[in-house]
Amino acid sequence: MSGCPYFEKRHLLFKNKPPTTEEEDDAAQRGVNKASKGGIIYGDYLQLDKIVSAQVLQSELKGNKIHDEHLFIVTHQAYELWFKQILFELDSVREIFISGHVRDERNMLKVNNRIHRIVMIFRLLVDQFSVLETMTALDFFDFREYLAPASGFQSLQFRVLENKIGVPDNQRVPYNRRHYRDNFKGRDSETLLATEQEPTLLKLVEEWLERTPGLEADGFNFWERLEINIFDGLNQEMEKIEKTPDPEEKEEMMAEVVKQKELFTSLFDEKRHDHLLSKGERRLSYKALQGALMIYFYREEPRFQVPFQLLTSLMDIDTLMTKWRYNHVCMVHRMIGSKAGTGGSSGYHYLRSTVRYRMLQTLSYCLNTLHCRYLKHFRAYLN
Ligand code: HEM
Repeated sequence: MSGCPYFEKRHLLFKNKPPTTEEEDDAAQRGVNKASKGGIIYGDYLQLDKIVSAQVLQSELKGNKIHDEHLFIVTHQAYELWFKQILFELDSVREIFISGHVRDERNMLKVNNRIHRIVMIFRLLVDQFSVLETMTALDFFDFREYLAPASGFQSLQFRVLENKIGVPDNQRVPYNRRHYRDNFKGRDSETLLATEQEPTLLKLVEEWLERTPGLEADGFNFWERLEINIFDGLNQEMEKIEKTPDPEEKEEMMAEVVKQKELFTSLFDEKRHDHLLSKGERRLSYKALQGALMIYFYREEPRFQVPFQLLTSLMDIDTLMTKWRYNHVCMVHRMIGSKAGTGGSSGYHYLRSTVRYRMLQTLSYCLNTLHCRYLKHFRAYLN
């Protein structure tokens, strides 16, 4: 009983007796003794000597110390640390997929937790710009010249992160008329090339989705059932509308169903899907898309709850990366207007063109297709 301070505290609380100052002193002393006995202490554990001495103000070195440069450096460093944590989580998740451990459904919870953690970090990163925005454009101009030609464009971790998540090479905007990788040299360039060749998170998720139980043509055959049910449902809807007495109302309702029918026809058109895939306008294979929609349809079934949460988190990451780019470009516009960036790009205009990088547009598009008011009706058919 006496060795556990946590238990002692609870014990005292039960007795309704707050710890005395003497007891607190005693506990504090025990901590000090532990450290002096050779246990690691806070600063050493976190290697704080390295971290807190890494804020070197270029303006100060040039003899003109500008106060806000400190914030600028700390903000970037905080971003880079969070990028590191995201990559750490991302690699562990990719490893679970690559090693095949994902086939054991129990591992899905781990995957889900880590992907959800990435979502939460991205939320923080999107909001974090507001701290840097306390710096005015004039304050920034006071030290901007000292940091050129350094630029966020050169952030290796950011590029690795994009590659590992699944920004495809053919979607990338040229930078200073060159391929983005050509702006990196030596080991960094090799690292980038390697990450372009490794399976991306998106690719791994795609393969996993293709194996969704229930898609088998000789089994439940979800896709065929869905197609038959949707078109049966639409035809029944049309028959009902035919009986509407008011011609104007009838025409309006019919036009809406016809529009829905066209949307669904394109959803079930594999050739069209493959064509869009080859143009980079869709990112998931036709089979993976079927898996995703099956999970979406049966999200309340115990077996599909965790996969559904995973898909939701992936779409969150996609949206949050876009929000990050958007917040960044807005801040850049506020700070430097349409001036060129320190890295040599056109600045605001270049960054605006990268906002369109998307990972999971196929999924959001298809889920939107299904967000029609007939969905409930079709679900009932499928059950
Ligand atoms: C005053 C604040 C900032 C300004 C004015 C600014 C400006 C710019 C500009 C002009 C570019 C385009 C490349 C160039 O020509 O230099 C860029 C790219 C970039 N910046 Fe910033 N930035 C700021 C803050 C940040 C912060 C806090 C981060 C966090 C890490 C960041 C990360 C990036 C990244 C990753 C890119 C590459 C984006 C891409 O190519 O899609 N920037 N920044």
